[in-house]
Amino acid sequence: MESPFATRRRPHDAPVLIKHDECGAYMNYINNTDVIRYGTYVHVRKGSIRANATKSASVVYTHATQFSSKKFSTVATFSRRHRTSKKAAGAGGDTGARASRVDAAPGIGMFSKRAAARRRRAAEPDVSVAVARAERRLEKHSSTRSSSSTRGTRSLGDAVAYAAIALGVCLLLFSRRIPVHGPEDFAPMRRAGRLAARALAHVEPHVVPGVDTGTLDDVVRAFLASRGARAATLGYRGYNHSSCISPNEVVCHGVPSASVVLNAGDIVNVDVAVVTSEGWHGDVSRTLFVGGRAAANVAARRLVDTTRDALRLGLEACRPGARIGDVLEPIARRLRAEGYGVVDRYAAHGVGRRFHQPPTIRHGAGAVRNRGWRLRPGHFFTIEPMATENGSVETATLSDGWTVVTADRASRSAQFEHTVGVGERACEIFTRDDAR
Ligand code: MF3
Ligand code: CO
Repeated sequence: MESPFATRRRPHDAPVLIKHDECGAYMNYINNTDVIRYGTYVHVRKGSIRANATKSASVVYTHATQFSSKKFSTVATFSRRHRTSKKAAGAGGDTGARASRVDAAPGIGMFSKRAAARRRRAAEPDVSVAVARAERRLEKHSSTRSSSSTRGTRSLGDAVAYAAIALGVCLLLFSRRIPVHGPEDFAPMRRAGRLAARALAHVEPHVVPGVDTGTLDDVVRAFLASRGARAATLGYRGYNHSSCISPNEVVCHGVPSASVVLNAGDIVNVDVAVVTSEGWHGDVSRTLFVGGRAAANVAARRLVDTTRDALRLGLEACRPGARIGDVLEPIARRLRAEGYGVVDRYAAHGVGRRFHQPPTIRHGAGAVRNRGWRLRPGHFFTIEPMATENGSVETATLSDGWTVVTADRASRSAQFEHTVGVGERACEIFTRDDAR
């Protein structure tokens, strides 16, 4: 590259460019995020006084298709800052003068090649600017010997800024991290899972023609209270019931109510999530036949039986070292083979000390073999496929803000759910009901 120094005529006592480096562009590959710094660095000398200057810019790229721009906003908020500052040092010391631009507008534009090129150009080393700036510093100091009161402002600003980026990235990573539980966490999870399963078994005989779902919820609440526990759903995001009870075309989150009366031939999912006094969560659901299996028509039986069986197939594929796609694929395959839809809008989830925690598990989109995160000992999560009778996965939410129904309000839906933990050699079903 041509030296800008060579193109300039300077007086005899002009500063001498003694060093010119392209800043080594560096790249941090942090979970699909590249932070690249472009720039140039010059070092000039005049007599015994030396000065340096850089012009550089950081460009934050993301290649992540899995991040929404919103999730990236922690970084982006910082990145939009545009700062220029100058600092000076006394004679004999290094003098820094840097103009730095941090340019990383978030959003869709970030992904386009042209936008990336534009940012790169904005960040391209501008040696003459850097040299001129270094020279100005140098001249100023040889004449005024001013104090260096502003010294460090720039580097402090940089430090704060980069700490903010690092913090943002860390928070982003942490919020998506799948908790890995220790061996000592299995026992309290077993207790939580068993309690949820028992609550469900306890309410089951009450699911008879003529009962309303509000009454069933009362039964669940009383049972849990008698065990010194309560439902995790109680007070969860404004939900005020101890179960979700979802008959027929209700896909999930059916709100228990005295006005929802079950009839013979109905199918109904009862979903119970508990939190024990120790603070651990168990989450389980089953779809039941109101008035017994014989009361249900053939289509309802096929839907319910297939969904139960699909969950079984998924759990059989659950083992340490497998990927979540290996668990979900047999479930979706079984359901789709019968022409059922695999609901994707409502997901399964990590569970433990929190009711819902990473990961989010999509039964539809995630159902690809050898895809997704790898199951490790200590991962706790639910598997809870929802199948729709007519194959459509379109849903609607009723005006209560909770009850999710199939879009045509006719196609029925079934769901089964277990809470599992990945052990050293196999997956353990915490919500297994040993009475069945
Ligand atoms: N078992 C459901 C789940 O896994 C229960 C949802 S409860 C609700 O999330 F409060 F969110 F409706
Ligand atoms: Co759940």
